[in-house]
Amino acid sequence: MKTLHNPFKINPSGQRQAAGWQRLTLSGKPLARLLPVLLAAGLLPAALPSTSSLSDSDSVDNGAGQCAACHQEIASRQLASDHAHTMMKVEDIPELMRALPVEHLDQDSGVRYRIERGDVQRAGVDLVARMGTEEERLQLLWGVGAGRKGITFIGRSEQGAFGQSRVSWYQKIGKLDVTTGLEKRPVDAYDALAGWLNPHESAHCLSCHMTRNENTPPDSIPEADAGVHCERCHGSGEQHIRAMAEETDDPSRGIDNPGRLGALEQVYFCGACHGIPPGGADLRALGHAMAMDHSVRFPAERLVLSRCYNESGGRLKCTTCHDPHENLAASFDGNCLSCHGRQADFAVPCPQSNNDCVGCHMPQETGFMTHSAFADHWIRVVPSSD
Ligand code: HEC
Ligand code: HEC
Ligand code: HEC
Ligand code: HEC
Ligand code: HEC
Ligand code: HEC
Ligand code: HEC
Repeated sequence: MKTLHNPFKINPSGQRQAAGWQRLTLSGKPLARLLPVLLAAGLLPAALPSTSSLSDSDSVDNGAGQCAACHQEIASRQLASDHAHTMMKVEDIPELMRALPVEHLDQDSGVRYRIERGDVQRAGVDLVARMGTEEERLQLLWGVGAGRKGITFIGRSEQGAFGQSRVSWYQKIGKLDVTTGLEKRPVDAYDALAGWLNPHESAHCLSCHMTRNENTPPDSIPEADAGVHCERCHGSGEQHIRAMAEETDDPSRGIDNPGRLGALEQVYFCGACHGIPPGGADLRALGHAMAMDHSVRFPAERLVLSRCYNESGGRLKCTTCHDPHENLAASFDGNCLSCHGRQADFAVPCPQSNNDCVGCHMPQETGFMTHSAFADHWIRVVPSSD
């Protein structure tokens, strides 16, 4: 089957079969001990955040306006975060615009790529692919990704087809390179431009990178809906704003707060975009997640394999370590020590070190996405053979 989801494409070398869950153990204990946790997953679908619960008429704004009027401090942090910038008009990526034109020669196929400003009649930015004497153009609409790892472009060909660019912009090294998952050998310049997407595929592609209207064609999506904003996680704000403005004392306050979800529900909530862990009693799927190195790209799939998660009675959630309105914190020692401190009687302290916990127990893994590393959320004493 063709993989739609390019940055999460399974690395072919990582695609080995799980050894069968019966033989897998977690910290020396059989996997079957996780059964109660897995069964609890049956509760969950209602918790998944979805743009389908939001229609245009519900829409308030992207957080810059009405939510900010009362939640100014959260809104200013959130608007500066990668969630908010994970889908942007190409013209709004200053690092790229400053670097134009940028070029790349794909050694394997001999295709020459160039991103440049469009011609004078048509403002905008184009990707040009040249193969032999043939040249084709993709008009770039959206940059997907805030740039911490890479930015892949969604564009439209002169014929009106939508596609994801076969080269991505790796901002931290200031270079173009082939998009993870599109290492195909192009047959001609048109084929070399992009991975072409049918309407279903383009909607799916953008669905985790935007707030609402995910079934709208890429060239008609309003700018305010690009990026993950307040209402994607909190649901429609209409009722809440009315209730708050009228100072009614509805204890639910008419708005969802994923901070109130239990640990497993929250893992599924964030996991709707960050990798849904195996659910129900699907122990084979769990074994698979353990055996498949590429699941490192999906924090929610990996975290549930950790003893920290399974033996802390629901105390470990995504929000234990992450403020969802901000980018990654500089240090996580405080989060680990809240359970593993010398004084804490909750979990044992480390016999090796009292700082930089993550460096040894959540190492950065490479090889799953070009020029990028991912922290392994399966917190453990990593065997030296891994
Ligand atoms: C008219 C002012 C106002 C506006 C506009 C507003 N809020 Fe609130 N919001 C409040 C107040 C007041 C509270 C309650 C604070 C408290 O109890 O500490 C609150 C609480 C919340 C909570 C916490 C709910 C809980 O479970 O405790 C969330 C989440 C929230 N707002 C999100 C939003 C979002 C998203 C928007 C924009 C769609 C928004 N708010 C717009 C006034 C507002
Ligand atoms: C609608 C999809 C979606 C949901 C829901 C979502 N995220 Fe994300 N998240 C993303 C995307 C997309 C990125 C990548 C941003 C970028 O382009 O760098 C991201 C990035 C992040 C990052 C990295 C931030 C950085 O420093 O770059 C963290 C941490 C994170 N998310 C945590 C969470 C947590 C915790 C939740 C649940 C409360 C959550 N996310 C829910 C889509 C989502
Ligand atoms: C199921 C949800 C989902 C879908 C579908 C999805 N993404 Fe993502 N994407 C994410 C999340 C979550 C991240 C953040 C991963 C991280 O930083 O750990 C991300 C990260 C990225 C990044 C790297 C951003 C950065 O700088 O960190 C790019 C580029 C990207 N996605 C492009 C795409 C494209 C192109 C498609 C469609 C072909 C797509 N994504 C489909 C959820 C999704
Ligand atoms: C990626 C998902 C996500 C996005 C986007 C998001 N929030 Fe939140 N928000 C959460 C989670 C999760 C919590 C619970 C945090 C906790 O309990 O630690 C939360 C908590 C809150 C609260 C309760 C007070 C607090 O600090 O716990 C308010 C108010 C709020 N958010 C407002 C907003 C506003 C306004 C925006 C847009 C500017 C926004 N949120 C965007 C996930 C999100
Ligand atoms: C909510 C509490 C909690 C937090 C936060 C937490 N842990 Fe744990 N962790 C536990 C529990 C409970 C165990 C089971 C063993 C025990 O009781 O110490 C455990 C086990 C471990 C183990 C042994 C794993 C094994 O496979 O034998 C390591 C290593 C570990 N934690 C490291 C960390 C690191 C690093 C962090 C921070 C990134 C962290 N923990 C955060 C509760 C927590
Ligand atoms: C025990 C602490 C802890 C918990 C719990 C936790 N994370 Fe993380 N997370 C980290 C650390 C540490 C990093 C790597 C930080 C860095 O690279 O500087 C990270 C990185 C990330 C990233 C960026 C990916 C990367 O490596 O670049 C995303 C996205 C993310 N976490 C999402 C989640 C989600 C979703 C959950 C819940 C399923 C979660 N995290 C739970 C500690 C945690
Ligand atoms: C230099 C690498 C390194 C650092 C840094 C480190 N650890 Fe460890 N940790 C280890 C090794 C190796 C083991 C297993 C061998 C042992 O027990 O001595 C271990 C064991 C553990 C265990 C299991 C202890 C047990 O008896 O089951 C926990 C819990 C733990 N570490 C937590 C942490 C926390 C929390 C931090 C940060 C305060 C941390 N580690 C920092 C390497 C490290």
